[in-house]
Amino acid sequence: GPLRVLVFGGALRAGSVNARLASLVARLVSDHGATADLATMREFAMPPYDGDAEAAEGVPQGALALRDRLELADAFVISSPEYNASVPGVLKNAIDWVSRIRPQPFGTKNALLVSASPSMIGGNRALWSLRVPLEHLGTRVYPDMFSLPRAYEAFAEDGQLTDSGLQQRLTQTVVAFLRFVEADARYVCLRRR
Ligand code: FNR
Repeated sequence: GPLRVLVFGGALRAGSVNARLASLVARLVSDHGATADLATMREFAMPPYDGDAEAAEGVPQGALALRDRLELADAFVISSPEYNASVPGVLKNAIDWVSRIRPQPFGTKNALLVSASPSMIGGNRALWSLRVPLEHLGTRVYPDMFSLPRAYEAFAEDGQLTDSGLQQRLTQTVVAFLRFVEADARYVCLRRR
């Protein structure tokens, strides 16, 4: 069947520009022959990691929910905000909890990282930080990344980017990622034969 791609924003708030960018990426994924599963961080809400809570109650519901959605997907896309030049704590906390589950859910996936920020840089530094825990867990993080600058003014009514150059660059990045994941899925099939 078609590739399944989980797409989610890394922020909890309803008006998140990263949730808007995640929606746009999900639309591009469906427009190019794959199935998009759009999620928000709210669905994966969980307490801060606490080893005592883990020992007493195990991994929380929100982390198990994220694991379930990852399991259904061939690949995932995260749209992450940038907090103090790094990954927001909420997203890092989710990665930390999910990393405690066996089999470890991030280890076998391909991922594309995108970000949106009101700044001129577009949150790019958060993505370099986000690579570190994901690559540590074995996720194959796609080399190309997309950062949307001036994100509060970047979206048109229809959810597309008003800047046609940026819209084109985002589309090309998503399409190249989908082609890479398809090729990788074929390679994995060959290897398993
Ligand atoms: C920010 N913001 C921010 N932006 C940025 O480009 N670089 C940064 O280092 C920071 N640092 C930062 C720290 C904290 C604690 C907050 C709350 C915010 C601004 C941030 O990009 C902005 O709030 C975005 O709107 C967050 O993304 P969402 O929630 O709109 O998806």
